Amino acid sequence: MEELNKNIHKSSIEDQMLVIFGVNGDLAKRKLLPAIFQLFLDKLLPTRFAIIGAGSQEKSEETNRNDVSAALLQFSKPAVESFPDELEEFIHHIYYQKVNNQNEDDFRSLNEYITRLSTQLEIPKKIIYYFSIPPFLYEIVAANLIKYGLNTESDGWKRIIVEKPFGYNLETAIDLDKKLRSGFNEDQIYRIDHYLGKETVQNIMVTRFSNGFFEPIWNRKYVDRVEITASEKIGVGNRGGYYDTSGAMRDMVQNHLLQVLAVVAMEPPSIFDSESIRNESVKVLQSLRPIKPNEVAQNVVRAQYIQTVVDDEIQKGYRQEKDVAPNSKTETYIAMRLFIDNWRWGDIPFYIRTGKQLPEQVTEVVIHLKPAPHQLFKQRCVAQSTNMIILRINPDAGVAVDFGMKIPGAGYKVQNVNMAFHYSDLAHTKISEAYERLLLDCMIGDSTLYARADAVRASWKFIDPILQTWKNNADIPIYFYDCNTWGPKEADFLFGNKELKWRPPFKKFKA
Ligand code: BG6
Repeated sequence: MEELNKNIHKSSIEDQMLVIFGVNGDLAKRKLLPAIFQLFLDKLLPTRFAIIGAGSQEKSEETNRNDVSAALLQFSKPAVESFPDELEEFIHHIYYQKVNNQNEDDFRSLNEYITRLSTQLEIPKKIIYYFSIPPFLYEIVAANLIKYGLNTESDGWKRIIVEKPFGYNLETAIDLDKKLRSGFNEDQIYRIDHYLGKETVQNIMVTRFSNGFFEPIWNRKYVDRVEITASEKIGVGNRGGYYDTSGAMRDMVQNHLLQVLAVVAMEPPSIFDSESIRNESVKVLQSLRPIKPNEVAQNVVRAQYIQTVVDDEIQKGYRQEKDVAPNSKTETYIAMRLFIDNWRWGDIPFYIRTGKQLPEQVTEVVIHLKPAPHQLFKQRCVAQSTNMIILRINPDAGVAVDFGMKIPGAGYKVQNVNMAFHYSDLAHTKISEAYERLLLDCMIGDSTLYARADAVRASWKFIDPILQTWKNNADIPIYFYDCNTWGPKEADFLFGNKELKWRPPFKKFKA
């Protein structure tokens, strides 16, 4: 937050209100309220602001404030314990209105409530509506806001933040867009993808575009292949109901991983502003080479975790998880090979993978460089000399470069070493949570790190035919993997070369 503090001053943030639909839900408690509280502690909220929780429960302002305190105590414990007085002050900015999202009349009451608060607290009607609700309610809530004029900007700007998944496929994404656009302009719609809010994802752009030595080799001439991994140790937990209709492709690939890929592969924007950056990243998504139905099985590996004994304990298989169909074919793991048909990347393969119940929680991008044209020291290498640039998003965030060095002593023995920068070495610099950054950006009207409609459409356009192919071809296998392993062996076959494998990310980033 240091960085943000330097650039953004409280005085530059307009007085405003934030309405959170679904304030009693998991996302609000785990992520949104802690992020807002942290912004408050960092003195990044405006002088006059109100957070209006909208939920289906009937409860008093006082009960809601107690609920918010309890959520913060649970999910922001260190901050709450260190700053009890600030919590007391913060809580006075929290309000509540019962809203049944499907009941139009409740929006009339919400409108009245906002008007009353606006007068009482002298806050203009500059409002963010955060849709922290199940996706099937997005259209309904938007329609109800429109119906009661809660979208009109004559008395102050209005913005909506829409969580992923944005649509269930290309058609529904386009349809949802149309519905939202019937009352909100594109510049009022903030489609959140929290991966773009991660400090270390933004740093990919800085690494590339502010250094003379990375960008010249960042292309098909010097890059052999790119790997993007987002592995998770956890299973689906209590989210089986949602996850079983989604799967790893919709949950992680269509949004987070393709957005990261776009940042890794995009051209430098001519200037650093929201539209220029998003213009470049969408071009990458539009250049993804479509995977034809008869190519799906060779390029996309899907798999599901099964019951496994790990350290003498039984780990549930996916089909045994709560709210998951016992014969579910939903994938909890994806590995795929894809290509970007443009001048920079030509036929260079990108490999992306994500999965649940894997051995480590790691998100990283690995740029594998082509070997030197003539291997003078080949016979003397202790291990094969590999040149890689590793962009570590999480954990141990940072950047590392791997290369071969002479082992001291007689002769010319070569071994791989690693030159690494760790964010943790920057003393007193805290990496802020993605939601803090993204909420603040929306408050100041900066949509750079939010997905634009054309980007969402382009990624669905790429993903949809794969999902359709799976649906229409029951014989395309879904593989199975034990918990606490790196997924099915078939994922390695994507490289089409027995010597290549996924880089094991459990290898400590620190050399
Ligand atoms: C969410 C997915 O969008 O991202 C989850 O719905 C996933 O299934 C999460 O666990 C991963 O986010 P992060 O920031 O922990 O990598």
